[in-house]
Amino acid sequence: MNKSKAIAAWVAILTISLALAGCAANADSSASSSETNEAQSSQAASASVLPGQLQSIDYLALVNKLNPLPEGWEDSLETDHFTNTVGDDVEVESKAYAAYLDLKADLEREGVHVDLDSARRSVADQERIMKEFTEEYGADYAKKTVAEPGYSEHHTGLALDLYLIIDGKDVVENQDMMEYPEIWEKIHARLAEYGFILRYLDGCEHITGYGYEPWHIRYIDDSTIAKEIADQGITFEEYKAGKVYPEVSYDFGDSKLYTREELEEAAVQVKCNFAAWDGCELHSLRYAGDDCNTPENVKWLNEIDEGAGYTQVVELIGDFHSPVTEDEPSAWALDTEYTDYQWWLARTGDDGWQLVSSGY
Ligand code: DAL
Ligand code: ZN
Repeated sequence: MNKSKAIAAWVAILTISLALAGCAANADSSASSSETNEAQSSQAASASVLPGQLQSIDYLALVNKLNPLPEGWEDSLETDHFTNTVGDDVEVESKAYAAYLDLKADLEREGVHVDLDSARRSVADQERIMKEFTEEYGADYAKKTVAEPGYSEHHTGLALDLYLIIDGKDVVENQDMMEYPEIWEKIHARLAEYGFILRYLDGCEHITGYGYEPWHIRYIDDSTIAKEIADQGITFEEYKAGKVYPEVSYDFGDSKLYTREELEEAAVQVKCNFAAWDGCELHSLRYAGDDCNTPENVKWLNEIDEGAGYTQVVELIGDFHSPVTEDEPSAWALDTEYTDYQWWLARTGDDGWQLVSSGY
């Protein structure tokens, strides 16, 4: 069974057991956080959408390696289509498109010309792109550059890939666009005013999971927040994690294996995952200690993520509270403090931490 089928099966089982039990099911210790996450998101989506009720998309939704496109997203998505200068049809979420046109006009006044290579993509589009990249550049490069189908921000319609038009010529290829850092600097400086952020920052692959992409911008419909993110020079992951859980207490202990910064990066991954646990509140996170990095644990996580080649493991332990009211549908028992929940992360060499498993 592949990963997405396994997740779908797990979600189905959880949904059925919730329907039968009428309440909570604790996370299976063999289920990864993204599975738990998806189950919770799916319940939240199905419980909050009433027939005939007009919904709006969440312009601040976090879609990344850990958080798939929220269920039901397409139900309230409105898009526009246009044809770009190379003749491709491009589909963009309507508000994002209007904001992009304002940004584009503003940039043109500065002598910078851009167009959109790609914006909204279906899961099938993403599968095709993943296949093309894997065939052309190999699986390792493809994984760092292209999101797994279902987990691409492009599914939202809010992620836009720009390309440059220089002296009337289209500069579309990634490596060619990288040759113009000064033009990107001008573009990036104008993003926040129109409600956009730069999504995959240089040097932040360990947090976002992807290499630097100066062309990939994300509409968040809020220029104040966009400015806050740009001014702090942080990723959207860090903004979400810090915003939702500013009061988490940490104890990173005294590790001989990892620096405090490395453990903080692992904590960011946990918080990014936790950000989709609707209505839950994370209270604390602590490092389990260097003893977690045993060959057995490295082997165990490599068995879960077959072929990942992990070499190091980190275990973070946390306490959190489940939703206090039924307004926030959740897989957890109502209004309960859960202690000593475990998050297991692994990495290969200097690559970023991947959240591989979680549970009791
Ligand atoms: N290039 C970004 C990560 C995507 O495929 O969604
Ligand atoms: Zn992109």
